[in-house]
Amino acid sequence: EKGGHEYFMLKEIEEQPEALANTLRGHFDNGRIVLDEQRLSDQDLRDVDKVFVIACGSAYHSGLVAKYAIEHWTRLPVEVELASEFRYRDPVLDRDTLVVAVSQSGETADTLEAVRHAREQKARVLAVCNTNGAQIPRESDAVLYTHAGPEIGVASTKAFLAQIAANYLVGLALAQARGTKYPDEVAREFAELEAMPAAVQKVLSTVDQVRALGRDLAESKAVLFLGRHVGFPVALEGALKLKELAYMHAEGFAAGELKHGPIALIEDGLPVVVVMPSPKGRAVLHAKLVSNISEIQARGARTIVIAEEGDETVRPFADELVEIPAVPTLLQPLVSTVPLQVLAAEIARSRGYDVDKPRNLAKSVTVE
Ligand code: F6R
Repeated sequence: EKGGHEYFMLKEIEEQPEALANTLRGHFDNGRIVLDEQRLSDQDLRDVDKVFVIACGSAYHSGLVAKYAIEHWTRLPVEVELASEFRYRDPVLDRDTLVVAVSQSGETADTLEAVRHAREQKARVLAVCNTNGAQIPRESDAVLYTHAGPEIGVASTKAFLAQIAANYLVGLALAQARGTKYPDEVAREFAELEAMPAAVQKVLSTVDQVRALGRDLAESKAVLFLGRHVGFPVALEGALKLKELAYMHAEGFAAGELKHGPIALIEDGLPVVVVMPSPKGRAVLHAKLVSNISEIQARGARTIVIAEEGDETVRPFADELVEIPAVPTLLQPLVSTVPLQVLAAEIARSRGYDVDKPRNLAKSVTVE
């Protein structure tokens, strides 16, 4: 049942506050972060000296986002890798390596094979999964379930946001075990996560604006996405959504890379979506992005700027401004992704495509 929506994806986009709340629920108890099926001892977690996040597609992007938080909180090196690449090189793993395998379905063949490979090398494997009892959690040492509920739309939306939240819980669990964060700091970070469902609810008020924009961009040949820091994987996710749903050429770039090549793509009227960091949180990055936008606008790009509400400096450079609520920097992807999901869905719908069943794609990819 689409609940009065034209397509499931829109319904699932609107279920994101609930998906986040359900994923966080019960994971902070007696002043401590708790995982679900915990077959790793506190000592195992303390011994971890390196983290790999392995996944495919959107789940991989959730890992790229989490890298910023996990390294910041734990001071552990975090590598994020596509499962299909991880499996076929010779990654350096041992019993002090924690491999976090992120998969909505829990059945993705590449991720499952990567898990098996990691376990053969004696690494500890923690699964972040949305499907109870699926193969990947069954073969892992510990599990953290996302509670996004079933996703009908082939393109991941609420599961993606829930994966980010779950990955963050893994980061906090490690920080707590290692003592890199005091208990009151862990409690504060968790409280900030708990405030996110309301922030996502707020960003949903932009749905009508972004749908109209999507209709307006439906005839574009290509769309570029730019971001920095945690906004970079958000740009990658926005581009992936647009490719898979609207069959449109879309690329996400780190804004700092513009001058190293991608700026050559800018031409008159090319839509470029820019994910702005908070002007308060990371002022240096913010200033750099403002200068990036002015450069591409000067070359004729049509700028679509996702920025924190009240960010006045960016206004003159935004042909279209989509305002998102002010949240802590590391949590911004939970709100900034939402307009990009709506944009891709609406462009696809305007082009006459089935938003819930994009061509050539399956919900769970059980062959390598
Ligand atoms: C994109 C999408 C896919 C999945 C990927 C991994 O919208 O849905 O990229 O994220 O196939 O799937 P899971 O998470 O089931 O391993």
